[in-house]
Amino acid sequence: MSLAVSLLLIALCAGGGYGEEGKRTQKAGHVSVVIVGGTGDLARKYLWQGFFQLYVSQDVSQDRCAILKDQFLRLSQYRQLKTLEDYQELARHIEQQLQQEGMTEAGRLFYLSVPAFAYAGVAEKINSSCRPAGGTWLRVVLEKPFGHNYRSAQVLATELLGALKDEEMYRIDHYLGKQVVSKILPFRIENRKFLDPIWNRHHIEKIEIVLKETLDVKGRISFYDEYGVIRDVLQNHLTEVMTLLTMKLPANVSNSGEVLRNKLEVLSSMLPLGKSQAVIGQYQNYKTEVQQELNKTKEHVSMTSTFAAVLAHIEDAQFEGVPVLLISGKMLDERVGYARILFKNDVFCLQSQNNVHCKPKQIVFYFGHGSLKYPAVLVSKNLFKPALKGGEWKEVTEHKNVDVLGLHISDYFVQTPTTEREAYSELIYHIFAGQKNNFVSTENLLASWEVWTPLLSALKGSFPRIYPGGADNGDMLDVHLRGKEIRFYSEAVIINPDQVGGASASSFQVMQGKFRSAQMVSAWSEELVERLAADMQEAAEAAVREGGVFHLALSGGSTPLALFHRLVLRHFSFPWRDTHIWMVDERCVPLTETESNFHSMHEHLLQHVRIPYYNIHPMPVQLNQRLCVDEDGGAQLYEKEISRLVNVSSFHFVLLGVGYDGHTASLFPGGKLNETGGSLVALTESPIKPHQRMSLTFSAINRARTVALLVMGKGKHELVTQLSRVKDNLEKYPVTWVKPNNGRLVWYIDYDALLG
Ligand code: BG6
Repeated sequence: MSLAVSLLLIALCAGGGYGEEGKRTQKAGHVSVVIVGGTGDLARKYLWQGFFQLYVSQDVSQDRCAILKDQFLRLSQYRQLKTLEDYQELARHIEQQLQQEGMTEAGRLFYLSVPAFAYAGVAEKINSSCRPAGGTWLRVVLEKPFGHNYRSAQVLATELLGALKDEEMYRIDHYLGKQVVSKILPFRIENRKFLDPIWNRHHIEKIEIVLKETLDVKGRISFYDEYGVIRDVLQNHLTEVMTLLTMKLPANVSNSGEVLRNKLEVLSSMLPLGKSQAVIGQYQNYKTEVQQELNKTKEHVSMTSTFAAVLAHIEDAQFEGVPVLLISGKMLDERVGYARILFKNDVFCLQSQNNVHCKPKQIVFYFGHGSLKYPAVLVSKNLFKPALKGGEWKEVTEHKNVDVLGLHISDYFVQTPTTEREAYSELIYHIFAGQKNNFVSTENLLASWEVWTPLLSALKGSFPRIYPGGADNGDMLDVHLRGKEIRFYSEAVIINPDQVGGASASSFQVMQGKFRSAQMVSAWSEELVERLAADMQEAAEAAVREGGVFHLALSGGSTPLALFHRLVLRHFSFPWRDTHIWMVDERCVPLTETESNFHSMHEHLLQHVRIPYYNIHPMPVQLNQRLCVDEDGGAQLYEKEISRLVNVSSFHFVLLGVGYDGHTASLFPGGKLNETGGSLVALTESPIKPHQRMSLTFSAINRARTVALLVMGKGKHELVTQLSRVKDNLEKYPVTWVKPNNGRLVWYIDYDALLG
C-alpha cells in the first residue's frame, strides 16, 4: 500500500524538560518536530496552532507574536515522506542541520496525523531510519482510532511495539487535554477533606458523563460508519473521564505509572456490559448521508449508532451500586459536555423547596459550551466551598442568569481557568515536556477495549432507535434506569387511559386509544386484522345502504395482504357487487408484473371475490406503450375517472400503510409534496426501486370519509414511537399530513409495532 505522506518539520530549541516524576530529566538542546500528515485536517485545525503556542512558550518574551510567527514559519519545512529513502533522507537532513548549527540534539518528536492503518508502516520506518542516537529521546504521537475492538487494538499494539517502546508512544485522547478534565484529579486532592467522607456509594446517588453534540457527521461518514458513537466517544473520552472520577487518588498526580495503574484498577473492576446496559439511536438523516457519501443505493441501511446511553457499574467497595451513566450523541438539542456527581439528599422538604438544603447537591465538571458557555468546576453551595490553589484557576462570582443542570448558577461555587487553552495545545506541551500521565498506555487501552468489546458484539444486529434530530427529539432519547439495566424511558406509546376500553365483547383483546390525537385501535396482529376487516365491512354496508355504492381505495405493499386474506376467507357477505376498488398508488411497471400493486391485489383479493370487473380501477401507469410519461396524462385520466364516479371525489374508505421512512401512499419524504396543487393524482418519485410512482395526493386522501392507517410488525416500532411524538411535518414524515377534512382517521397498530 502506498500512502502519500506529507511532512512538516519544525526545529525547536528546547530548554530542559520534565519527566514522569516531575523531575528535570531532559537535556537542553535542539528538538525536531515532524508532523506526518501535516497538511491534514487535524493539523490545520489544531496541531499548527498547538506547536506554535509551544514555540512561543519557549521564548522569553512572549509578546513578540508577529516576529515569532514569522520565525516559526521559517523554521517549518514541508517535504514528502513516502518511502524508506524519504525517511533516511529526513534523518540525514536533521543531522546535517545539527552539525551546521553546532547544536546538540535533545529529541525527535513525530506526530502521526495519518489514518490508523498507516501507523505500523510509519512507525517501522521511523524505527529503522530516524531513531536518534543514544541519550536523545524519540516520541511518537498517535491519534485514535486505536483499533476497532479488543482484537484489532491488540494487533495494532503488537505491531507498534515491534517498532517502538511503550514509553516512546504518546496516544492522544484530547479529552485529557481539556482543562476541566485535567483538573479532576487535582480538584479531588485539593478538596480531600470535604470529599473523602462523601466520595463513595453511601453518598453518591449517581454519576453522569455526557457529551451532547448538535452537529451531524457529514463529511466523515467513511470513518464514522465503521465506528459509531461508542467507539468514537464512549470507549475513549467518556471512559477516561469516568476513571479520573472513580480511581484511587495517586500519591503524586505527575507520576504517570501510578495514575495509569489506578485507572487500570477501575477498568478491571467494572461489571461486564451487555445489551441490557445500553440503548442506541441513529439520527434520521444519517441513512441518507451514508447513501450519498458511501455511494450506496437507496435500499442500503446502516446500523451504526449516532447516540448511545450506557449504564456502567464499578464493583469495588467504594462505588458498588452507584450507577455511572455514559451518554453521547450527534444531532441532539444542544452542544454541551459535563460530568456530574449527584449526591444523595436525605432531607425531606415539605414546603420550602427553595431552601438551600432542599436543592440538589452536586459537583459538575463542565467541559464547556451549553448554557454556561465556558469550562468550569461547579460545586453546589449546600456541599462545601472548594479550595482554590495556584494561579491557574479563579473563582467566578459575577454570573449571567443561567441554570446549569437543575440549579441556578448562583447556587454554585464556580471556578474557571484563568486563561482558556485548547486541549491539543495542552497535550503538545505535555509531550514536549515528556509528561505521560495524560496519555493512554497500551495496557490501559486494551483494558478499555476489554470492557467495550463485549457490548459492541452484543449490540451487533440491534436496530438503533431513529430520532429526528435537534429539538424534535423531544423525550425520545430519555432513559430510565431499572436496577442494573437501562431502557428508553418511553418504550411504548402511551395510550390515554381515558380512551382505553370500549371494545366490544367479541373483540375483548382489542384496545382503543389515541395516537397523534386520532383514534387508535391496537391488538395482536390477527385480532387487529379481524377488527379492521369488520370495520371495513361495516363501512361498506353503511355506504351501500345510503347510496348504493362503496368506494374503496387500497394501498399496495405487503401490510394489507393479511387483510385481503381475511376478507377473502371470512367475509362472504361483503357487498362486493356494489364495491368499487381504487388504487391508492401504483408502481410504474406493467400491470402484469409481480412488482405491480395491482398485480398483487389481483392475486390476493380480486380474483377470489365476486366483484364486477368494471368496478375495478387500476391506475393507468401504462399509456401509449410507455410508463408514467407526464405528457400521456395518466394521472389526469385517473383523476377524471374518480371525479366522474365518486361523489365529490370523496372515497368512503381509504386504506393506507406507512413506510419506515414515514412515507404513505407513494408520497415520500422530501418529495415536494406541496407542489401537487389541488390535483388528486400525481406522478411521484420513490427512493426505492422502481422509482417512478403514481399516487393519490393528500388532497384526495384527506377528502375521504374514513382513512385507516394500518401499521404492523416489530420493525415499525421505532417509527411508531417517533410518530407518537413528532409534530406534523410534511417534508420529513409525509404520513403526518393525513388529516381528513371532514372524515375520520383511525390508526390500526398491532402490539408488535406499538410496544416493540
Ligand atoms: C472526537 C470525535 O474525538 O471528539 C468527534 O471523533 C467528537 O466525533 C469530538 O465530535 C468531540 O470533541 P469536543 O472537544 O468537541 O467535545
